[in-house]
Amino acid sequence: MRRSKISELLISADAGYEVLVCGWIRTVRNSGSVAFLQVNDGSCLADIQVVVEGDVLSLLETTELCTGCSVKVEGAVVESLGKGQKYEIKASYVEILGTADSNDYPLQKKRHTLEFLRDIAHLRPRTNTFGAMSRVRNAAAFAIHTYFQKHGFQYIQTPMITASDAEGAGSMFRVTTLDLANVPKKGGVPDLSEDFFGKSAYLTVSGQLEAEIFAQAVSDVYTFGPTFRAENSNTSRHLAEFWMVEPEVAFCDLNGLADLAEDFLKNVFAEVIDRCPDDMAFFNQWYDKTTLSTLESIINSDFERITYSDAIAMLKRSEQAFEYPVEWGLDLQSEHERYLTETKIGKPVVVTDYPKEIKAFYMRLNEDDKTVAAMDVLVPRIGEIIGGSQREERYDVLTDRMREAGMEEAEYWWYLDLRKYGSVEHAGFGLGFERTVQFMTGMQNIRDVIPFPRTPNNAEF
Ligand code: 4AD
Ligand code: MG
Repeated sequence: MRRSKISELLISADAGYEVLVCGWIRTVRNSGSVAFLQVNDGSCLADIQVVVEGDVLSLLETTELCTGCSVKVEGAVVESLGKGQKYEIKASYVEILGTADSNDYPLQKKRHTLEFLRDIAHLRPRTNTFGAMSRVRNAAAFAIHTYFQKHGFQYIQTPMITASDAEGAGSMFRVTTLDLANVPKKGGVPDLSEDFFGKSAYLTVSGQLEAEIFAQAVSDVYTFGPTFRAENSNTSRHLAEFWMVEPEVAFCDLNGLADLAEDFLKNVFAEVIDRCPDDMAFFNQWYDKTTLSTLESIINSDFERITYSDAIAMLKRSEQAFEYPVEWGLDLQSEHERYLTETKIGKPVVVTDYPKEIKAFYMRLNEDDKTVAAMDVLVPRIGEIIGGSQREERYDVLTDRMREAGMEEAEYWWYLDLRKYGSVEHAGFGLGFERTVQFMTGMQNIRDVIPFPRTPNNAEF
């Protein structure tokens, strides 16, 4: 018999047929003459109840029939008399596939804390929360690809190992095969010509620069891959390894980019709600009771658009006691971002035209010579979810900006070539995938929305 997923059984409209189901037992109630097993296979949030009695039960080693063990069940799907489920399985055969000693299986019936579950990242996918997380991440990733594919974007794969620092922020992980105990030296400093790539190499912080190459050849592209940041920030919004979605669009300015970001986000939110109603209802019930209503209202209203200068003026007028100073020229901190999007405006905000000093070298210089065509999309609870800009397509302006930033022009010769040969207006942004999932689910900590979080001092699994 073909194995059925529990999700298939629960949406099926009728009962009375024979099925084979496999999964892990969540709980057992055994009265001696009849046992009720709650079995979950991760295909959906709901468990299927399996009723075992008579010979089928007496043939089992009932001490092994406990939380965490894996089972294979055959039987008839029948309408359930108990409340909470439409169908159950009346077992004609049960086999214990793998036991789980109840004296030391870490996941017991009670609700565990998220902190405890982080230490058992190999078992937490078996909880309701992380099963739901896995399905929501999956649906969100699918919605992202679907959106771009429908809109004529090509998916490109940019390198994970790179020699250039895309953000100029200097928080990169070095990639090396040199023996750390015995580094070859030349003139007292490490001789990187002996290293694998013959020069310094790093894990990428962004696929943007390479995406720009393709945008300036095939027009509309996107990347969706892991990115790495060695910043030592132990916050609930930062990971050392996270996934970024980066569309890059030729013949597009900052306004067009903001339109794209808004339409794209609304679409992804709507798709996930549509595909994962039970999981989203679960997060809404247990983690943040405003999640669904917030998403619905975002889908149905326009994002606010303000300039950085407007934002500074609003913050100054707010009379709010902020920890960090508010001054034209200083970067917005997460407390400022949250004030704007949560308190002041009450919906997503696109902040544009930041001072050039606080933004990356590649952002297009505005007429005022002081600001650049940058945009950050801020959402309630999270703050910045998207960072992007129109790119500087003018060769001379770009080289000036690089010089100001103290960068080696020679190392970016290929990036500059694009401004020499058929340069065009273009723009792109980066969406933090985990921050998006965090926002959609209402989870407090970014470590609980990625299967295996990488943070300072944490790379166990
Ligand atoms: O604003 P960022 O640094 O922008 C870039 O890297 C651009 N090159 C993107 C582009 O224009 N193609 O990062 C983009 C987004 C942020 O808005 C945030 O959502 C997420 O990536 N992000 C992080 N997410 C988790 N942990 C971190 N340490 C993150 N740093 C950035
Ligand atoms: Mg940013």
